[in-house]
Amino acid sequence: MMQRRLGREGPKVSALGLGLMGMSDFYGPADERESIRVIHAAIERGVTLLDTGDFYGSGHNELLLARALDGSSRRDKVFIQVKFGVLRAPDGAFIGFDGRPQAIKNALAQTLRRLRTDRVDLYMPARRDPQVPFAETIGAIATCVEAGWVRHVGVSEVGEKGVEEAHAVHPIAALQREYSLVSRDVESDILPALERVGAGLTAYGVLSRGLLTGRIRKPEDIDPRDYRAHLPRFSGDNLRRNLILVDRLVALAQERSVTASQLAIAWVLSRGKSVIPLIGARTLSQLEESLAAVDVALTEAELTSLGAAVPAADVAGDRYDELGMRLISP
Ligand SMILES: NC(=O)c1ccc[n+]([C@@H]2O[C@H](COP(=O)([O-])OP(=O)(O)OC[C@H]3O[C@@H](n4cnc5c(N)ncnc54)[C@H](OP(=O)(O)O)[C@@H]3O)[C@@H](O)[C@H]2O)c1
Repeated sequence: MMQRRLGREGPKVSALGLGLMGMSDFYGPADERESIRVIHAAIERGVTLLDTGDFYGSGHNELLLARALDGSSRRDKVFIQVKFGVLRAPDGAFIGFDGRPQAIKNALAQTLRRLRTDRVDLYMPARRDPQVPFAETIGAIATCVEAGWVRHVGVSEVGEKGVEEAHAVHPIAALQREYSLVSRDVESDILPALERVGAGLTAYGVLSRGLLTGRIRKPEDIDPRDYRAHLPRFSGDNLRRNLILVDRLVALAQERSVTASQLAIAWVLSRGKSVIPLIGARTLSQLEESLAAVDVALTEAELTSLGAAVPAADVAGDRYDELGMRLISP
């Protein structure tokens, strides 16, 4: 597996990271044994970057990862990044955000216990808490770095301003943000800001949560309990319009003898040396398919055709519903 650096002077990690979220939450039921097989296979294939969140399945995702690592030498082979701060009720409902310093230490203590480890490699607030100055949230993570509980500081779903504010408190290794052929809003201001501060980007939703695979053809293909059933891009007329773009992607992939997923991941990989796609594979076959994208080198001509076939401006619907969009800060 190729390696990339998280930012200019940051740690080296695999060029593709594995996102574990869908193994516990959001995208309908997951098979725990298959999830563990996927984590093991990814590590065997050289994936070192593993992405989780303490609120993914309200702790389940971290417990799952700990089971997969099994207290063995695997822990030392991987770079675990954890998001925190999102508050969930016992029924899974989202009930707010907590970015207060004392809440961060408490959350980290529980994460370390669940992961059965003594440090998190990168720790980041999943969103900016509007009630707490960002410098206080980031400053609290910095004290956890000093204590040796956290190695690197990251941020998630903030913009240029958030990156710069955070970086002024403590060097930021990476921003996590959605980035795909159909979500390119990072390109104008955010990627240049990351370049300025020397941070990387861990790109999520590189398949636009499965939309770009072409598997979902109509709203009924999504279980009503699946989070995607409530996302604008998967609903009604928006889905119909977005599938026109997906079909063009599928046609270009066929010309290259690769799959639409591989082409979509390869496109994100082509965006820069500090951009690290997180693949959201939940099965071994998805993992194999997605990992093969590292070998799909795209020529300038192919990148141009892809951009023209899937213009981000033609995408119908926001990335999140109205509440979700409000939580994304500048
Ligand atoms: N910071 C944030 O706000 C944030 C938000 C979301 C995610 N994330 C992180 O980013 C990671 C990746 O995000 P994501 O899961 O939304 O990414 P994604 O790769 O865009 O979507 C994942 C979904 O695509 C389908 N899929 C994956 N690989 C496939 C393949 N090779 N062929 C066909 N279908 C495939 C699966 O859906 P089906 O199994 O249903 O077909 C899977 O659940 C997450 O695990 C999480 O760690 C962060």
